[in-house]
Amino acid sequence: MLIDNHGRTINYLRLAVTDKCNLRCFYCMPEDGLNWLSRNELMSYDEMLRACKLLVGMGIQKIRITGGEPFVRKDIMALLTAISRLEGLQELSLTTNGVLTAPHVTDLKAIGVKSVNLSLDTLDAGRFFSITRRDEFGAVMETLTGLLKHNIEVKINVVVMDGKNTQDIIPLVALTKDLPVNVRFIEEMPFNGDGKIHQTKISWDYIRILEEIENKYPAIKKVQDPAYSTAYNYHIPGHLGDIGVIAAYSRTFCGTCNRIRITPQGTLKNCLYDDGVLNIRDLMRAGNNDDAVKKSLLKVFNNRVVDGWEAEKLVKNTGMHESMAAIGG
Ligand code: GTP
Ligand code: 5AD
Ligand code: SF4
Repeated sequence: MLIDNHGRTINYLRLAVTDKCNLRCFYCMPEDGLNWLSRNELMSYDEMLRACKLLVGMGIQKIRITGGEPFVRKDIMALLTAISRLEGLQELSLTTNGVLTAPHVTDLKAIGVKSVNLSLDTLDAGRFFSITRRDEFGAVMETLTGLLKHNIEVKINVVVMDGKNTQDIIPLVALTKDLPVNVRFIEEMPFNGDGKIHQTKISWDYIRILEEIENKYPAIKKVQDPAYSTAYNYHIPGHLGDIGVIAAYSRTFCGTCNRIRITPQGTLKNCLYDDGVLNIRDLMRAGNNDDAVKKSLLKVFNNRVVDGWEAEKLVKNTGMHESMAAIGG
């Protein structure tokens, strides 16, 4: 078991396999002018697999593949298949925008993926275009249908943006009436890659989001949250699915933070809001053996900050937030 210096279990790795994406969600990246990582900067699949194997050996039980968009990276199923075979790994899942995912659903099921998180901020094709700057709503809906058909659990991630999609909150809640999906509303975080200093208050925090839902569905009930959940979970009587609210900006769940991140260029992050604590790709490329890499990892796991506020304070370039595509959410 991996325990950090605050007594928190670390058992969840989020591995971002690419910084590239086929959408341009405005809360995540600028419309253009992004420089993608070069091939040599990116970790290779062999390096990613080695890092995963090592971390599973140390106590990681769940791996989530993120990006950018995972399916934009060539032959991603080969990496997923190899990771799915790691001894000791209990859960492999991924977060995807669903544009290229539908054709892979059968293979995902075959390698044991039981749950997929799908980013979808609106049920209106026009608003989808204005948020993502791409005309791919149909493809995403096809993925949703395919996942449900294969009995893969689906969590729909909705970033709530003032003036952009707050009118979608209720229709997205209504989706849980007849579909067994978990719709999760996420506070918008300042990771849109524009490099600007952001205000410290957000207008749609988790409390306001919840109030909006309660107004329409007063019978909504709190249900027990799974261990280490970032979401506060709710259920509306008579609905097949569930609702979640994620205080990603308010950071109310750091006390049980069980997760670490590896970015596409191998930066290990102890917190979403830190700017990296070591580079595992460089350690491996420098010829360190597994024991030496483990030693370096244990050192940083023993030096985690207490929460996302502290992490943000320590970032050297305060206010200069990266693109979420280079972090993986
Ligand atoms: P589960 O594994 O299903 O619990 O999903 P998850 O919430 O860990 O992953 P997902 O990739 O679906 O992320 C949903 C939202 O939660 C995204 O906006 C993430 O950026 C945000 N999120 C995930 N982990 C953290 C975290 O440690 N801190 C903060 N502040 N936000 C997080
Ligand atoms: N704020 C909140 N969530 C974000 N995501 C991407 N950018 C942001 C942001 N600025 C979410 C995506 C995806 C998840 C991994 O992170 O919706 O589902
Ligand atoms: Fe792509 Fe995800 Fe960023 Fe949207 S949030 S641009 S889908 S990486």
